Amino acid sequence: MAYETVKVRKVTGGCGVEVTGVDLKSMSNRQWDEVQRAFVENGVVFFRDQSLTPEEHIAFARRWGPIDVNRFFSAVAGHPEIAEVRKEPEQKTNIGGGWHTDHSYDIEPAMGSVLLARELPDEGGDTLFANMYRAFEALSPGLQRTLEGLRAVHGAAHIFGPKGVHKSNPESASRYGNDHLAGDDVLHPVVIRHPLSGRKALYVNPAFTLRFEDWSVEDSKPLLEHLYRHATRPEFTCRFNWQPGSIAFWDNRATWHYAANDYHGERRLMHRITVAGCPLQPATAH
Ligand code: SIN
Repeated sequence: MAYETVKVRKVTGGCGVEVTGVDLKSMSNRQWDEVQRAFVENGVVFFRDQSLTPEEHIAFARRWGPIDVNRFFSAVAGHPEIAEVRKEPEQKTNIGGGWHTDHSYDIEPAMGSVLLARELPDEGGDTLFANMYRAFEALSPGLQRTLEGLRAVHGAAHIFGPKGVHKSNPESASRYGNDHLAGDDVLHPVVIRHPLSGRKALYVNPAFTLRFEDWSVEDSKPLLEHLYRHATRPEFTCRFNWQPGSIAFWDNRATWHYAANDYHGERRLMHRITVAGCPLQPATAH
């Protein structure tokens, strides 16, 4: 169906659209309907030249659902709903510098994340996205059927917990806290029936998926690595170059993302709000 009140342009054949002709502070009801449709159909929507205050950023996120405050990230002063994604000139590591989807370690993983650019390096600092509908659809039918019968274990402790990777990185101290809240591992279907689109999407990711249910880590590794290589094929991805006022809103159940760390010596500051989701159903559910 054509869009009538906003312009929607594919960023690449495989992932993401840029939506123009809309001011997120003052959308009409019809524009809002079309923005929602663009999100559900494409997995990630990008907007340019939106100058939102923190309050307007929160108001936009709340249109999608309740906010799921990230328990590990440092928040913006005075705005606990907004997580700070910051890299300072003297820091070498960044936040989100590997393929992942946010909050898959939760029983009810976040539906999406609204990322707003506040300060950008002169060059670099792009974010890459990969489309998990496309990744699933391009697998061979036999592997699709096998994966549809599996669940996978996801967790946060190896990253955010008391013995997680961030503990050995001195740059992490200013970024993350609450290691005691890393919590128990959780189970999700490996192929979900997307709650909004009804489509099948691959739901494992390199950061938080630990193994398949009833499979050891060692037995799971070759198949997971195959899926990770497959899912990041260029045909399923896009790359977003930020400008001041750019916003990305991605679907955590249908995409992965990766923050490129190629701007050492410069600051990059982004504000992220995560929107709450729901328990995920297997693709075999109708
Ligand atoms: C994130 O992984 O949530 C941050 C992505 C980015 O900073 O581009």
